[in-house]
Amino acid sequence: MKRTEYTEANRLAWNEAARVHAAQNFAHLLEKFSVPGSSVLHKPHELERLGPLAFHGQAVAQVCCNNGRELISIRNLGAGRCVGFDISDEFIVQARELNAAAHQDCEFVRSDAYAIPEKYRGNFGLVYLTVGALGWMPDLPSFIQVLVGLLQPGGALLIYEMHPFLDMLDPINQADPANPLELRHSYFKPDPFVDTGGLDYYSHQEYKSRPQYWFHHKLSDILGAVLGAGLVLKAFDEYPHDISAVFEHLETLPVKGPMCYILEAHLPG
Ligand SMILES: C[S@@+](CC[C@H](N)C(=O)[O-])C[C@H]1O[C@@H](n2cnc3c(N)ncnc32)[C@H](O)[C@@H]1O
Repeated sequence: MKRTEYTEANRLAWNEAARVHAAQNFAHLLEKFSVPGSSVLHKPHELERLGPLAFHGQAVAQVCCNNGRELISIRNLGAGRCVGFDISDEFIVQARELNAAAHQDCEFVRSDAYAIPEKYRGNFGLVYLTVGALGWMPDLPSFIQVLVGLLQPGGALLIYEMHPFLDMLDPINQADPANPLELRHSYFKPDPFVDTGGLDYYSHQEYKSRPQYWFHHKLSDILGAVLGAGLVLKAFDEYPHDISAVFEHLETLPVKGPMCYILEAHLPG
């Protein structure tokens, strides 16, 4: 399949998921964001990194912004112009609705990450990417180049993502409860995971969905793509907590594996 065939299939799957997610969380989010200054960002190590990069009027872009809850939070916490990009038509509609409820001025653009309009090039002091974004990208080096293209000279890329180690395990709704750390998939898996069981990471209920394609990217591929795009690595930390909701059952195990990481890199200039 071509890159656009993968991303188009994922767009349709995410549009389906948008309705499933909204039924579970949207009323709550509308109520939450109707209170001025609301934020869904609570992880201390994320806020420590975000603070200097975003909360002093910087222009921020979030790629794979979903329903906008994280970007609106960043705007509420002091960022300047905020623009979110997402391939899902339905999630962009939700993001605009949430933005209106928050009386904020974030801009939400429906776009495949690989086709972000040229006018956004070099506009941002921070490009922000969070949980469950990198895996939708069939071509990682080109995706990181897109993110770098959005940065102003001296700007920063902040990635707070699921650790690729998790791709070796089964998620909560498929894992054997007696052996949740069983290694099920190769760390060097070259082909994408294809799933038709839906994307309901809120209730973990499966539903018959359109196929979605998730690409495993090794840590060395991620670091290689960041460095290869000309960024300078400022920080890289790994943590034993779950940010995905689909591996939360591992958090209480005595044997800890890496579950997420934060990467901060800067464009010289
Ligand atoms: C797991 S969600 C991100 C969740 C977000 N971090 C949050 O917590 O709200 C992944 C998002 O990536 C978007 N996405 C998937 N493929 C994309 C692509 N090629 N370009 C832009 N967005 C894409 C999906 O539509 C979805 O909203």
